Amino acid sequence: MSTTSKITRVTVPDIRSRKGGEPVVCITAYTAPMARIFDRHVDLLLVGDSLGMVLYGFDNTLPVTLDMMIAHTGAVVRGSKKACVIIDMPFGSYQESPEAAFRNCARAMQETGCTGVKLEGGTEMADTIRFLTSRGIPVMGHVGLIPQSINTAGGYRIRGRTTADAARVIADAKAVAAAGALAMVVEGLVEPVARRLTKAVSVPTIGIGASLACDGQVLVSDDILGLFTDFKPKFVKRYAELAGVVDQAIARYAADVRARRFPGPEHTFAGPQKKPAAKKTTSKKQAAKRPGRG
Ligand code: KIV
Repeated sequence: MSTTSKITRVTVPDIRSRKGGEPVVCITAYTAPMARIFDRHVDLLLVGDSLGMVLYGFDNTLPVTLDMMIAHTGAVVRGSKKACVIIDMPFGSYQESPEAAFRNCARAMQETGCTGVKLEGGTEMADTIRFLTSRGIPVMGHVGLIPQSINTAGGYRIRGRTTADAARVIADAKAVAAAGALAMVVEGLVEPVARRLTKAVSVPTIGIGASLACDGQVLVSDDILGLFTDFKPKFVKRYAELAGVVDQAIARYAADVRARRFPGPEHTFAGPQKKPAAKKTTSKKQAAKRPGRG
């Protein structure tokens, strides 16, 4: 038995070493085919609980369950080879106690093969982050605007607009870093505070709506790809307009079906061929053809 195992993905030390250096590129992924495409280009694939809104049509991330996160994270791990995959722990799966958090995070890592977990919160989560990291669970923090606290915060509010709030967010970031987080998402934070925060911590900050001052960036993939036409927050840059492309494709398919143009002969299985009685052999090529997708 070999005593060395080869890790081919981007590792936790790789991510940590990017502090103040080459920016960390992170994007959310929820499915195997998308993970396969993104994998070549990014360092981190985050299976965000944003999937509750993006894929399942919920109004916020609170209804997302651990089972949902595990199913999608498994798919992203199977679809990727190179990027470090992080599972976003859903609301209710880690806040109760460090022990409960450990059980759920360990289950998530065992059942998906992902490298680490992300959880939201600052000083109040420091003990849990310390408990997890000291027991082999890499943790990415998430400070600033934390969507799972939408009800206590009274909505999605940009952080750091007052001196007191800026001090709170920076204290949160310091606590998360001191507890052993490998990096942290910094969401919805005004630029001068994001700059101060990034200087104040020794691990990479990965911004979303938190300016160029961060050590890396993350965005929701469906936002980048323009799959939502009615949602365009200031911090999102669209690199494609796929909603229009999909709309056109489905419109053409529907028109073809209605006009009986699809399926054409090239999509149709022919019936039995009439063959001369003497020649009764099946070609190898024909036998190898499989009528099906799987
Ligand atoms: O759930 C998510 O996708 C996230 C990112 C936006 C950081 O937490």
